[in-house]
Amino acid sequence: MVTIKDKDFEKFISHDEISDKIKLISDRINEDYKTKKPLFIAILNGSFIFAADLLKEINVECEISFVKLASYEEMESTGNVKQLIGLNDNIFNRDVVIIEDIIDTGRTIVKILEEFKSLGANSIEIATLLRKPKSEAISDQLKYVGFQLPEVFVLGYGLDYDGLGRNLKDLYKLKEE
Ligand code: IMP
Ligand code: MG
Repeated sequence: MVTIKDKDFEKFISHDEISDKIKLISDRINEDYKTKKPLFIAILNGSFIFAADLLKEINVECEISFVKLASYEEMESTGNVKQLIGLNDNIFNRDVVIIEDIIDTGRTIVKILEEFKSLGANSIEIATLLRKPKSEAISDQLKYVGFQLPEVFVLGYGLDYDGLGRNLKDLYKLKEE
């Protein structure tokens, strides 16, 4: 068990189980992209460890780049608008594989997909280590999925709670009271 700030977390998915799952995902990607040169785009911060471990298992010619969703308050609205920053690569005609850590409602990934589509990618697929039940509505757009989670809050292996816990080697879940 680990305590981060005011919350207790218990071990949920071990690093070894994650590694085995990454092997299965990378086998599929290696097969699907054997005649292509995919451009992997990892969404920071959460996916940095998954992206690194996944890329080490990819054996087709490929590139990787990193983007981040920055929040900013719009003057006119009260809503929190997110903008994709750090995209320096030419997406046009590329076969893009977006690497995400976790998809909950899917709002983040839908926004990212829209942006990439508008840049003229030849194909766009999503590889996410984790997904939660609320992402059901976009199931057909989630090609490479590691683990389907129940409705729990998780951290570790790149994922954080209030900025902390990304360094934990295994995946933890919030302990029930
Ligand atoms: P969505 O837009 O609702 O799909 O939310 C996705 C984002 O919320 C992820 O990229 C994470 O940053 C964050 N998130 C959702 N669930 C968790 C969790 O259980 N632990 C840590 N971060 C999470
Ligand atoms: Mg994220």
